[in-house]
Amino acid sequence: MPLVKQEYVSDIWKDGIFENKVIFCTGGAGTICSAQVRAMVHLGANACIIGRNVEKTEKMAKDIATARQGAKVLGFGSVDVRSIESLQTAVEKCVKELGGIDFVIAGAAGNFLASINQLSTNAFKSVMDIDVLGSYNTVKATLPHLVTSAGKHKCDGKTASPTGTGGRIIFVSATFHYTAMPLQTHVSVAKAGIDALSNNLALEFGPRGVTSNVIAPGPIAGTEGMDRLSKTDDLANSIKCIPLGRWGTVKEISDATVFLFSDAGNYVNGHALVVDGAAWRTQTPNMGGFKYPDFLLGDEVVTGVKGGKKSKL
Ligand code: COA
Repeated sequence: MPLVKQEYVSDIWKDGIFENKVIFCTGGAGTICSAQVRAMVHLGANACIIGRNVEKTEKMAKDIATARQGAKVLGFGSVDVRSIESLQTAVEKCVKELGGIDFVIAGAAGNFLASINQLSTNAFKSVMDIDVLGSYNTVKATLPHLVTSAGKHKCDGKTASPTGTGGRIIFVSATFHYTAMPLQTHVSVAKAGIDALSNNLALEFGPRGVTSNVIAPGPIAGTEGMDRLSKTDDLANSIKCIPLGRWGTVKEISDATVFLFSDAGNYVNGHALVVDGAAWRTQTPNMGGFKYPDFLLGDEVVTGVKGGKKSKL
């Protein structure tokens, strides 16, 4: 559904700052990533989003294109970040149709709630494969284009590049691993890996002008993650524990994205930008409505969330 600008990006950014630029985003049909891409498109970029679900990805691409007249937004479904070949094909099609890749968002992720007792080896591996291997594959498939873009749009920190910025990647991570988080071992391990990947990329490719950063969203309203993973009967309590007293908005994640990709973020590299109202500083004892440590000691089953384990029948 087309959104009004105020829902996905602030008024403070200048229209056209990403003109003639291309953003490539994995997991681009999701709530957070689609808002990030929509903001970039509104501010001038063309885009390519990829996802596993064909209908959802193509529909979202059409929807994002409404953010700016004349915008080109490609939506490639049936692309699984766990397959490097599938990603490389999508990258080639994007470059052929849009002319290059200047910005990347590695946003594809998998999540569900399970304690270590409830987490099979295959379940753990699935999340590691989607998050860590998928992010690495995204890097491998897009990096040559980011290096080219960084070379074309150099920033010396004094005068803005006349052709704007380019050669930048953002990984969408999380904050669970800052403290450790019960029921989220798989995701904590995966996101710690993603943060390490971003930092190493910053170190190895900074000398070529590429910047690599992480955005770590906290609880963001209206997202698939919150819809699938939070206990509906504990919302008031969970909000009370957030120092800013509310959930975040997708617009707040988009604004952080625009900052890092724009001339304002030129010297930010190898950083994790936490956008969570300081929620992570209080997070461990709260466990999203699952009482700690009783839930674990009682070997209870995860109930009361939409994204619970499906029976194999
Ligand atoms: N609790 C415990 N284990 C679970 C689970 C849950 N809620 N959901 C899936 N698993 C297990 C499965 O049982 C399976 O393990 P097994 O073979 O030992 O039984 C393993 O995880 C893989 O499940 P499968 O459904 O085959 O994997 P998939 O690759 O199709 O899906 C997931 C990956 C599991 C991450 C799935 O939740 C997904 O596709 N998520 C995408 C959407 C998403 O999570 N977005 C992020 C929102 S924050």
